[in-house]
Amino acid sequence: MNSLTTSTGAFDLTRYPADPRDQLRAWDAADEYLLRHLAEGPEPSGTVVVLGDRWGALVTALAAHRPVQISDSYLGRQATTANLRRNTAEPDAVQLLTTQDPPPERIDTLLVRVPKSLALLEDQLHRLAPAIHPGTVVIGTGMVTEIHTSTLQLFERLIGPTRTSLAAKKARLIFCTPDPALARTPSPWPRSYALPTDIGVVSGRTVTNHAGIFCAERLDIGTRFLLRHLPRRSGPELVADLGCGNGVVGTAAALANPEAELLFVDESHQAVASAEATFRANLPATAKATFRAGDGLTGTPARSLDLVLNNPPFHSHQATTDATAWRMFTGARDALRPGGELWVVGNRHLGYHVKLRRLFGNCELVASDPKFVVLRSVRR
Ligand SMILES: C[S@@+](CC[C@H](N)C(=O)[O-])C[C@H]1O[C@@H](n2cnc3c(N)ncnc32)[C@H](O)[C@@H]1O
Repeated sequence: MNSLTTSTGAFDLTRYPADPRDQLRAWDAADEYLLRHLAEGPEPSGTVVVLGDRWGALVTALAAHRPVQISDSYLGRQATTANLRRNTAEPDAVQLLTTQDPPPERIDTLLVRVPKSLALLEDQLHRLAPAIHPGTVVIGTGMVTEIHTSTLQLFERLIGPTRTSLAAKKARLIFCTPDPALARTPSPWPRSYALPTDIGVVSGRTVTNHAGIFCAERLDIGTRFLLRHLPRRSGPELVADLGCGNGVVGTAAALANPEAELLFVDESHQAVASAEATFRANLPATAKATFRAGDGLTGTPARSLDLVLNNPPFHSHQATTDATAWRMFTGARDALRPGGELWVVGNRHLGYHVKLRRLFGNCELVASDPKFVVLRSVRR
């Protein structure tokens, strides 16, 4: 079940966090199609870059070519590291970069696992285009449902003439020929927008959004509801914006309590960079904050936080699951000091109060409307 078989071997692959009850595979037909195509054609050569490899299946199977992986996801990188250790003799041969790191200066083979976010693809192709030369082999792969006319137009506009393969097991390849004559334009990312004027301390302020993050174009309605009902607090305290996205919630907490020190955490590197830009643009240079890519509050010392603010993800890596919310709540309970509080906003139908009551032994309804609830649990 967890073994990807290619012409070069069988690879035992897992997602991160690996959960034995989790039946979701760490690769799909799009990865298989690309690997099959590479095995049949000329070997990938020179500097091989793999963009958007979800759980490291591609770089693990291609490790002999010493590829460079570029990924936005902290969880994806953890999975990749574990998969490389388990399946390859020389795991360090694969260089792991984030979407925020400077890319290699010259790319000879570019393999693109089409990301869910078109904006992220646009931004990353802009970043990689200067390293592509007329001889660069560019191949994309994705499920048929992920490859749209707009996806192909992006490759055409930023790299060169583009065609697709026949579909196989509902996956398709994209072949793109670099055109050195294409005019190079700057990436439209990051983008900013002004917040509405009815959301307390952050009313009318500007947030910065790197490509691909949650609600990069406008404020989420759940977040808006939370911002209207944030706790009023004062004095020195350590506050976490858990799953920070563009950092609007933690920035509001810092504006409301200038003595607070903030911790912004997200599993997306694009989100962490966005939160830092939002915070810096709205607070004085002396304001204290840490920005961290991570899995929930893993690694945060026990009993160190006074307040955790959270709008948990409902979809995680193509799966609809509440497992992430559960992990976030558990991590928050462990990281809060006794008397510390977790504030959560969620769709009322998700029933987060049941989980919170089970974990904390208490859960109070702070505010509700027909769609959302804000809940508060206190660490005893
Ligand atoms: C619903 S969004 C909320 C974003 C932001 N707080 C807001 O309200 O606009 C949830 C965020 O959680 C992040 N996330 C998902 N899984 C995570 C994990 N395991 N650890 C940390 N952050 C995670 C997502 O990248 C996303 O930015």
